[in-house]
Amino acid sequence: MHDVVRAGAGRRPSLRRRLLLLLLLPMLILLTIDAVVTYGVALNYSNRVHDADLADDVRTLAQMFRSGEVSGDLPAEARFLIEYDPDSHNYYTVRSRRRGLLSGNGTFPEPPAPALGAAPELFYSRLSGRTLRAASLSLRAPNDPGDVLTVTIAETLHDRQRRAREILLLAVPLQTILILGALSLMWLGINRGLRILQPLTDRLAAREQELEPITGEDVPVEILPLTRTIDGLFERLRAMLSLQERFIADAAHQLRTPLAGLRLHVDRARAATDPATVRDALDHIDQLTGRTARTCTQLLALTRAQNPRSECAAHVPVDLARQIPQAVGQRVPEAIRAGIDLGYQGPGGPVYVQGDATALQELLDNLIDNTLRYAGRGARATVSLLPLPDGGVLLQVEDTGPGVPAGMLQRLGERFFRAPDAPSGGTGLGLAIVQQIARQHGAQVTFASAPAGGLRISLHFPPPAKS
Ligand SMILES: Nc1ncnc2c1ncn2[C@@H]1O[C@H](COP(=O)(O)OP(=O)(O)OP(=O)(O)O)[C@@H](O)[C@H]1O
Ligand SMILES: [Mg+2]
Repeated sequence: MHDVVRAGAGRRPSLRRRLLLLLLLPMLILLTIDAVVTYGVALNYSNRVHDADLADDVRTLAQMFRSGEVSGDLPAEARFLIEYDPDSHNYYTVRSRRRGLLSGNGTFPEPPAPALGAAPELFYSRLSGRTLRAASLSLRAPNDPGDVLTVTIAETLHDRQRRAREILLLAVPLQTILILGALSLMWLGINRGLRILQPLTDRLAAREQELEPITGEDVPVEILPLTRTIDGLFERLRAMLSLQERFIADAAHQLRTPLAGLRLHVDRARAATDPATVRDALDHIDQLTGRTARTCTQLLALTRAQNPRSECAAHVPVDLARQIPQAVGQRVPEAIRAGIDLGYQGPGGPVYVQGDATALQELLDNLIDNTLRYAGRGARATVSLLPLPDGGVLLQVEDTGPGVPAGMLQRLGERFFRAPDAPSGGTGLGLAIVQQIARQHGAQVTFASAPAGGLRISLHFPPPAKS
């Protein structure tokens, strides 16, 4: 059992982990971009420094040529200037406008010579598949004032790139440390931030069975949708619990009397010696069992109708012009036995309402049941259906029986209400069930005296809601 719990806990999603992972990935992308940008900046900086050195070197070299003849070999100090850094692969050329290439250790494409007296000209060139950075400077030939010498030195980019890499290798670890530091701070921040939920956890932990709302002033806005959903659930649970409590209380109360009666008649039957008393006691037991069963059925039906879940049950189009005649037809034999003329009046075509067919059947059963029970022998009972011009539907159950005294009409529908002169056998829940089911369907129930003297119960179903 413990193992199962632990295994489940390992796979449980963690808000901290998720937040951190969500931050880590962008941070790594940021670090990569940062490294690329840093390398670019470092290379640019290294290029500028090297370009300045190259320009200086070409000026110094030119200075050396101002004083003497240029032949194939360079003076020793000039060679030193060019070759002092073997890594850079320095190349040079000295060209005369009149005599062509005078000296050099490599030939690479060069742009036209810069003007006399101009600053050194920097350019890129290529030699043996490698890129070179070069600087050229023109000077007047020392031995021939009509001639112009162009001195060029070039170097590979190797040194510049090495410098940039060195800067990068210094910067990246620093930036990584910075990002790791930021993530650690975020981890601490998330941990501290989540403590905001502690009061809510404490409040819930302190509860035993209370289902009061948990949303308080201290609930952060981000958690509000969650706590409101939980509060909604608590509210439904409270309604369900109070419904159950009421059911238990009602059942206990309503069943106590018939059960006491049953015991009495069982005792009577046991003590009786003559068969007539036993039969009478058994008849009473039969009646009381029937009543108890009816009470249970009606209580369950009312509780079902009151259940908040059935209020949000999916409603579908129900054709009342089909369902009502069927429900009436099923009760005709019973009506004939009771001496009541039970009939239906309604249009030929379908009459739809949005509803729950089973609940509507329960409603019809209770209304027909009442007319058969209370209208009395010789009465006429009619169930009528009338589609209204506004799209609504009017359902009426009317009989020519004794009805209910006008002063009591408004009490119909109350739980356990029965007219004082009502024949025994009912539980007083039928009309409460009718009202509850009508409410589920948005229908209005009216109790009135029928013109012929009986009871008229009208249900007004609203037109279907436009979606
Ligand atoms: N058609 C009717 N004619 C005369 N009185 C009626 C009629 N319908 C209902 N009543 C009166 O209203 C009371 C409440 O009816 P309701 O259907 O709620 O309970 P019930 O019939 O007594 O019991 P049950 O729960 O078994 O239906 C009845 O006891 C009866 O007095
Ligand atoms: Mg009834």
